[in-house]
Amino acid sequence: MADKVPGPCITVSYREYAQGPRRAFLRAHDERTMRRTDVAKTALITGITGQDGSYLTELLLAKGYVVHGLIRRSSTFNTARIDHLYQDPHDPGARLHLHYGDLTDGSRLVTLLERIQPDEVYNLAAQSHVRVSFDEPEFTGSTTGLGSTRLLEAIRMVGLACRFYQASSSEMFGATPPPQNEETPFYPRSPYGVAKVYSYWMTRNYREAYGLFAVNGILFNHESPRRGETFVTRKIATAAARIAAGKQNELHLGNLDAVRDWGYAEEYVAGMWQMLQADEPDDYVLATGTPCTVRDFARHCFEEVGLDWQQYVRFDPRYVRPTEVDALIGDPSKAAARLGWRAQVLAPELAALMTRAETLALA
Ligand code: NAP
Ligand code: GDD
Repeated sequence: MADKVPGPCITVSYREYAQGPRRAFLRAHDERTMRRTDVAKTALITGITGQDGSYLTELLLAKGYVVHGLIRRSSTFNTARIDHLYQDPHDPGARLHLHYGDLTDGSRLVTLLERIQPDEVYNLAAQSHVRVSFDEPEFTGSTTGLGSTRLLEAIRMVGLACRFYQASSSEMFGATPPPQNEETPFYPRSPYGVAKVYSYWMTRNYREAYGLFAVNGILFNHESPRRGETFVTRKIATAAARIAAGKQNELHLGNLDAVRDWGYAEEYVAGMWQMLQADEPDDYVLATGTPCTVRDFARHCFEEVGLDWQQYVRFDPRYVRPTEVDALIGDPSKAAARLGWRAQVLAPELAALMTRAETLALA
């Protein structure tokens, strides 16, 4: 790779890496900070079409960023969550740009990064469904695990001095009992959890080996009306609204005893951004700190539409996982102390707002 790199961003050459990769990253970062004081920041988001990607895009656009998003080519449109943010690329003032790409395609990541020269990279893309990861462990490993390495390595190859956010997960704690914080040992219980642990350590390794400003956000479950339809909160909220409207009779669920720490996604993406604005790269837990069972979440949703959940919920073993994570309850005190981040919306309010959104969508 040549020493001379076009664009507003300073990059470093392989020769500099050979002399000391950590120093090379720091030099590039210092020079870039000096040059960039009056220029809008540029971010690349993988997983921009997902729940978190859509909220993060809104947040960054509101902050004046130029946002680039990686989208997968599919035979049907998969951009529903960001369609309201679409900007005509012919408009010279457009600040949202979408690019085809995939975390399984490392060379594409290199060419894209070289072109975009982002200040911040948010790696949100993943096969993110825990139950599905038991059916597709190899694909999950390639996307949720190796995908992060491909992106980190692309950053290193291009020589970018960007800041990197890795979407790590409370699922990494798995069987380790709550409360869980940044010091809690990992004991993943699914191919998804195992893949996320790998990505967590690769992110730390790139931070320690190359001085990259790379952070892990260890996020506990966060939900919204934009949540995928097969995650349990959205599934319950949708069913409660449909049953109340006479469009569905029953709701089939698996383990009702599982305990989760459910927060509101819009608040969590703000925490992601805050992690990348900190003075030093570090890893943070984001959580509400309050437990709720699947059973209680169902009760809250059905109460919102004036129904008794017990009359409609049926058990179906197909939704039980080969190995379950019994209880995740986060301790977010480090994020509160160092970033000033705190969750405001707790499970009962979240259940109500999600159920109201489903009811409105049916009207
Ligand atoms: P999500 O709604 O499932 O979105 C996942 C995104 O990844 C989608 O945009 C999807 O694209 C994209 N994607 C999947 N495979 C890809 C690949 N091979 N190449 C490129 N893009 C790919 O997930 P989310 O809830 O927004 O979560 C965002 C991230 O945070 C994920 O990494 C998830 O594992 C992690 N996380 C989530 C939570 C939570 O409670 N939500 C908690 C902790 C960590 P398509 O739209 O084309 O499918
Ligand atoms: N999906 C689903 N469907 N889950 C069910 C069902 C059902 O019908 N019935 C019971 N559950 C239980 C699951 O067994 C699990 O204990 C709990 O509900 C939550 O399941 P999900 O909503 O699928 O989320 P998750 O906790 O497995 O994973 C989510 O949170 C992780 C963070 O802890 C995902 O967003 C992951 O990507 C994320 O990392």
